[in-house]
Amino acid sequence: MTETFAERLHQTRLGLGRRIVEHIRRGTSDLALAAMRNDVSVYIDPVRHAAERQVLFRETPVVACLSNEIKEPGQFRTFDETGVPIVVVRGRDGEARAFLNVCLHRGARLVRDTEGKANLFTCWFHGWSYAVDGKLAAVPEAERFTDSDGASALTQSGHLIAVPAAERYGLVFVQATPGSTMDIDAHLGDFGPQLELLELGKAERVKDGVLPVASNWKYALDTYGEGYHFAALHKQTLAPYFRNDITVYDSFGPHHRVLFVSRDMESWADRPEAQWGVDDALGGIHYIFPNTILFAGSVSPGKRYYTTFRHFPGETPGKTKTYKTIYAPGGVKNDEHRKEVEDAWDATAHVVRTEDYVVSAEGYRNLVALPAGSSVVYGRQELSLQNVHRALAAAIGMPLPPVAVANAPLREAAE
Ligand code: FES
Ligand SMILES: [Fe+2]
Repeated sequence: MTETFAERLHQTRLGLGRRIVEHIRRGTSDLALAAMRNDVSVYIDPVRHAAERQVLFRETPVVACLSNEIKEPGQFRTFDETGVPIVVVRGRDGEARAFLNVCLHRGARLVRDTEGKANLFTCWFHGWSYAVDGKLAAVPEAERFTDSDGASALTQSGHLIAVPAAERYGLVFVQATPGSTMDIDAHLGDFGPQLELLELGKAERVKDGVLPVASNWKYALDTYGEGYHFAALHKQTLAPYFRNDITVYDSFGPHHRVLFVSRDMESWADRPEAQWGVDDALGGIHYIFPNTILFAGSVSPGKRYYTTFRHFPGETPGKTKTYKTIYAPGGVKNDEHRKEVEDAWDATAHVVRTEDYVVSAEGYRNLVALPAGSSVVYGRQELSLQNVHRALAAAIGMPLPPVAVANAPLREAAE
């Protein structure tokens, strides 16, 4: 008999709940077998940075938005953060498509609103218009575009330049290279069924904004991968709600999930499974390689939101923009609920701005100042960072530089 979605969701939550309780009872955590050193050049080298921008952000699928953000036919969003101007739009046939946001006439920016709904995209320069499936629909004074051979020059310009787009599990992915092949199922691999459990297709966006940071994008990303820093950096803000000594970690190829254990889960250890409130067990961080963090949960017991943090590198290694968006899973129920979710966006943004991104900017400046050959170290509990840095380096084909003490291969151990 095939397992229903509800059963699979319940079994996943229960399995995670059991691991959480086991760690609470035994005072253990998921850990890597060894600490890992990483040369500081990984964060500051402009050559590596350029390779990352090309391979990870142009030639790898990245999350553009959630499906619901372009729900209706003609609904669109522009997306420039990969370094290529892109418009993502829902077609009349329900397909999500992506095009270079470039007019075929003389290259003007075609769609100038960041989001909206359109029947046609009309260029503001000379008024060429395109259907939302990308086809050129109308050209003012079209008869004046005759080539020297007497044919119409417009036949070359019949269609906006497409970039690969795909929609899976309520997420819209694009790959910012026209003509490239994107195999989204191969990219997500066995992480796909895990993302499916979140039912992101039902989530409704409530608030978004940009958090800039004068640091390397990977340094910023690292702050989302470990709870070890809660007790010190987030002493007042997160430490009252989350333990910093227990990590429940699963990797799925280059992607991962990290669960942080909330204080109210501690009581599960003294209770039978039926009383655990196991719905909260599947939360924490879902990392969608290479740059997206999806946080499920909140600092308030019983309240659950989805927040995406999409990290984009600037032109230089020391500049990053994080696009942060909060969603109500299952949709916004009423005005009061909307306000609550908006407040949750503000609260996390405050923590990130005043704590994580202050430390990230200071840390980055320090790495730049260190002598060549210096390294940082990721502890056994920072195993998600170990995994991410290995996966990023492998993807761009630039091995991590050798370090003084040879790194052990990543293998998780419960201890
Ligand atoms: S550049 Fe778009 S119509 Fe001329
Ligand atoms: Fe943090």
